[in-house]
Amino acid sequence: MNFELTEEQLAVQAAARDFAQNELLPGVIERDEEQKFPAEQIKKMGELGFMGMMVDPKYNGGGMDSVSYVLAMEEISKVDASCSVAMSVNNSLVCWGLEKYGSEEQKQKYLTKLATGEIIGAFCLSEPEAGSDATSQRTTAEDKGDYYLLNGTKNWITNGNSAGVYIVIAQTDPEKKHKGINALIVEKGMDGFVVGKKENKLGIRGSDTHSLMFTDVKVPKENRIGEDGFGFKFAMSTLNGGRIGIASQALGIASGAYELALKYSQERKAFGKPISEHQAIQFKLAEMATQIEAARLLCLNAASLKDQGKDYVKAAAMAKVFASKVAMDVTVEAVQVHGGYGYVKEYHVERLMRDAKITQIYEGTSEIQKIVIARELLKN
Ligand code: CAA
Ligand code: FAD
Repeated sequence: MNFELTEEQLAVQAAARDFAQNELLPGVIERDEEQKFPAEQIKKMGELGFMGMMVDPKYNGGGMDSVSYVLAMEEISKVDASCSVAMSVNNSLVCWGLEKYGSEEQKQKYLTKLATGEIIGAFCLSEPEAGSDATSQRTTAEDKGDYYLLNGTKNWITNGNSAGVYIVIAQTDPEKKHKGINALIVEKGMDGFVVGKKENKLGIRGSDTHSLMFTDVKVPKENRIGEDGFGFKFAMSTLNGGRIGIASQALGIASGAYELALKYSQERKAFGKPISEHQAIQFKLAEMATQIEAARLLCLNAASLKDQGKDYVKAAAMAKVFASKVAMDVTVEAVQVHGGYGYVKEYHVERLMRDAKITQIYEGTSEIQKIVIARELLKN
């Protein structure tokens, strides 16, 4: 393993850092408080190439590698995890899935716009009764010859109201269980498709999370991704890469909180000296930095395996389960280092602590990641 970054990767990292500090930091507290979706910021991220980073330039993408994606996700997440979840879903669940498994027509029609952020995408797997147990899909896509008739409800959908394109997973043939599931491209505005209520969340409050309702929505057959019955495999395969994105989000939340704690500890004085000179605080900083370094290496390892075309299922799940725990631990300690100031909005660490929790839940809970890792360990 060689994690020396190339000049290109360093340039991507620097561009993401500048953008996060200059364009995301101002207003991030207000967006969180008002639950305001960062539409303008995401538009700019599209213009800078952050919404379709790994997509082939022939479909308007950035043609970058997954390592660059990890670096950019970390920098954006240090400041605004509501922006980075929109970025992660668009890049790794929607664009990647379409580029890898979509037809040429689907790529021309949808991917070329998703890759520039002209429209953003949503990935719709979870349902009220099917979260971790994702094969228990109740949403149905009845085969009607030249179209599917889509009925059901999806829950917790990121970019739920802001997306233009939705990849919806639905059951076509219940007898075939997970082999009877399809992935369909649904456009906003199709008859019978209604966006439900917005969730009022603990963290990532700028992100718009909605339920979606489908009543007799006619989805043309040409909007199915892959062969009949490929939908569940599509979802699982796409989520493997998505988990690298969320692991990097967790990494960014942790490193953002750590950087603030490091700086604050050198400024704040107690008992006649900066608190960084008290060993109890030094040990916290040392612990945080070590955990972050380990999380970063796991993220880069998973991304690098993906870039080399090697199997990254286990590596991605390990990165996610570890980095999300690090995000929780580090943000709690960052608040502690800030004392009472850490408990109020102006110092940012309380938001990062609230944002951290979701990384242990979405794209497969920590318990599900351990199931994935254990299955890979025991496979042979
Ligand atoms: N990669 C590729 N294929 C996989 C896979 C993986 N990681 N995990 C399972 N599969 C395949 C299996 O090989 C199997 O296919 P075959 O029968 O052809 O071999 C098929 O999927 C079914 O697998 P299982 O029999 O193992 O199914 P299961 O019901 O026991 O459970 C599970 C599988 C791993 C628990 C799966 O249901 C799962 O990952 N659940 C979590 C769902 C999830 O991550 N949701 C995220 C929603 S999106 C989101 O959250 C976005 C966001 O917030 C921003
Ligand atoms: P459950 O599956 O009911 O799990 C409850 C608890 O039981 C968890 O602790 C879980 O780990 C545990 N558990 C369940 N099964 C097992 C088992 N076999 N062994 C051990 N423990 C188990 N979904 C999408 O499809 N698209 C999105 O864009 C999206 N965005 C989201 C955004 C937010 C803010 C949130 C909160 C969720 C989002 N989700 C999205 C849904 C998310 O992926 C699910 O919430 C998650 O997969 C867990 O499902 P669940 O909530 O139904 O919990």
